[in-house]
Amino acid sequence: MTHKTLPKIELHTHLEGCAPPAFIRGLAKEKSLDISGIFNPDGTYAYRDFDHFLQVYEAACTTLQSPQDFYRLVKAVLEESASHGVVYQETFVSPDFCGGGDLAAWRDYLAAMESAAAEAEAEHGITLKGIITCIRHFGPDAAKPTAICAVETFGDFITGFGMAGGEMVGRPGDYDYAFDMAREAGMPLTCHAGEWGGPDMVADTLRDLKVQRIGHGVNAIQDTNLVAELADNGVTLEVCPGSNVFLQATGGWSDHPIQKLRDAGVKVTVSTDDPPFFATTMTHEFDMLARTFGWGDADFNEINQTALEAAFCDDATRAKIA
Ligand code: ADE
Ligand code: ZN
Repeated sequence: MTHKTLPKIELHTHLEGCAPPAFIRGLAKEKSLDISGIFNPDGTYAYRDFDHFLQVYEAACTTLQSPQDFYRLVKAVLEESASHGVVYQETFVSPDFCGGGDLAAWRDYLAAMESAAAEAEAEHGITLKGIITCIRHFGPDAAKPTAICAVETFGDFITGFGMAGGEMVGRPGDYDYAFDMAREAGMPLTCHAGEWGGPDMVADTLRDLKVQRIGHGVNAIQDTNLVAELADNGVTLEVCPGSNVFLQATGGWSDHPIQKLRDAGVKVTVSTDDPPFFATTMTHEFDMLARTFGWGDADFNEINQTALEAAFCDDATRAKIA
């Protein structure tokens, strides 16, 4: 059973986290950077746990040093996504990894990504939108220039604002300045919560940052009242089951809360997060959901419809990908 050719809409990926290890090794070689410690002997990324994953991720990012590097990254990532039937993808992009949060530098990186995305759309029929993302463990002060980059470049390609990184650093409200700025500019919002934190982290994120979507959110399952609230308020969860299973944020596939959340009426979508880091693809996610929970075409159509409705894009784009 393979779902490779089924059309898919993916809302939660991290651009650098989609970089194949061979791509990063190639850049390191070109630039004579020694990052051999981040790879296993078989060439895959090597890390022990989530905190180490974040360190390895940032080490991989040190090879991405120019707009041209990001142009090549976007081309490689979209070719791979399209090969798994992805027709629309949203990806987190971080000015911190593109010139260190400087607006002028960010504009150059963004132009390179946009031209790569336009070419990939023409070549593979896949549409990419970017969500500017601050990095939680870089702290609230670093989130402010990130928000400035976001509001200054909000438009056709940059369509939302969010936060990734170490979830257990600080509280969501510490980042309210950046989220307020983005919201006041009219940007749709999402934030990682409930991947490592408990239901309280999801509830505080909704209350203090007023986001429409939650990245992961799976630990909400521990609080029945919160689950009912998510369902009542139409909050969309960007669920990444393969990532959760690989990082042991949840139990195995059969224990994954996606089915229970869906049964409770919560809007759930399916994404890969950082596919080469977690040995997954959108095909693998769909195959495992079919095998574990018996999902069939009607279920995948519903998931795609939920993702389409929650996508941070304009109605013209929505109509194009529907
Ligand atoms: N950055 C890249 N992947 C992430 C994840 N799964 N959670 C938080 N931050 C991330
Ligand atoms: Zn993520």
